[in-house]
Amino acid sequence: MTRGIILAGGAGTRLDPLTRVACKQLLPVYDKPMIYYPLSVLMLGDIREILIISTPKDLPMFRDLFGDGSSLGLSIEYAEQAEPRGLAEALVIGEAFLDGSPSCLVLGDNLFHGNLDFFRAALRENTGATVFASEVRDPERFGIVEFDEAGRVLSIEEKPEHPKSPYAVPGLYIFDPSAPARARGLQPSGRGELEIADLICSYLEEGKLTARMLGRGVAWLDTGTPDSLLEAANYIATVQKQGAYQVARLEEIAYQRGFIGRAQLLEQAAGQPNREVGRYLENIPAR
Ligand code: G1P
Repeated sequence: MTRGIILAGGAGTRLDPLTRVACKQLLPVYDKPMIYYPLSVLMLGDIREILIISTPKDLPMFRDLFGDGSSLGLSIEYAEQAEPRGLAEALVIGEAFLDGSPSCLVLGDNLFHGNLDFFRAALRENTGATVFASEVRDPERFGIVEFDEAGRVLSIEEKPEHPKSPYAVPGLYIFDPSAPARARGLQPSGRGELEIADLICSYLEEGKLTARMLGRGVAWLDTGTPDSLLEAANYIATVQKQGAYQVARLEEIAYQRGFIGRAQLLEQAAGQPNREVGRYLENIPAR
């Protein structure tokens, strides 16, 4: 079974001074801490064994928030990334936790909403590594994937000055069990980091990389700048006010996916300090 890693590290410099003392991935995206959204994606992929990686300073707060994960029918472990040494280091830090399993890495500031069938299919069908691609207007801000006419991946570049395509790689990656060993073998880049692009390239060079387009029915929002954070909050608020359902309400997902039973859901509902959330959970229809 695929195990999940949420990387919630980094200094969040593009959000300073918001992040000078507060942890970026715990900032609100409308009515929930940011990390709820990437965690919900793993849960919707039926991934129940999860490692949260963060800085020594912030890790205790995640532990306070989620504990061992059992209230959500999950098993959540925690590990420190002592210095910001790159996204690919998450696979090195997570090696013991993964224990030879395939993995799904999601960045703690990435938000996906919509029909996640594409993600479940990718988890099922992955051989080697799978990344996703989404057309953006500001490709210099992201990892970029270039395709040939047949849709095969030609290159992956991290925040290129002159992007070869408009297709950004969201912070959601699926790897076979060889990822930790590959990540350990990477050379740190000029900025002293183990680059996720280099890890992905090691699969590309062996013809073991799949890139799947995010479909139209899926919204991908990153939340790393003041504007994108505000837009994400407005997006979630709009979805939740227009429809009858909430995005990333973790207890609801845990129940829908069968991680917890009705009794546990109602217990969670009764324990909510926020009565509005409690009522929402009580009113979730039986499976
Ligand atoms: C990271 C990755 C980048 C990816 C992006 C998605 O960048 O390095 O390849 O496209 O996340 O959010 P960051 O936002 O951490 O600078």
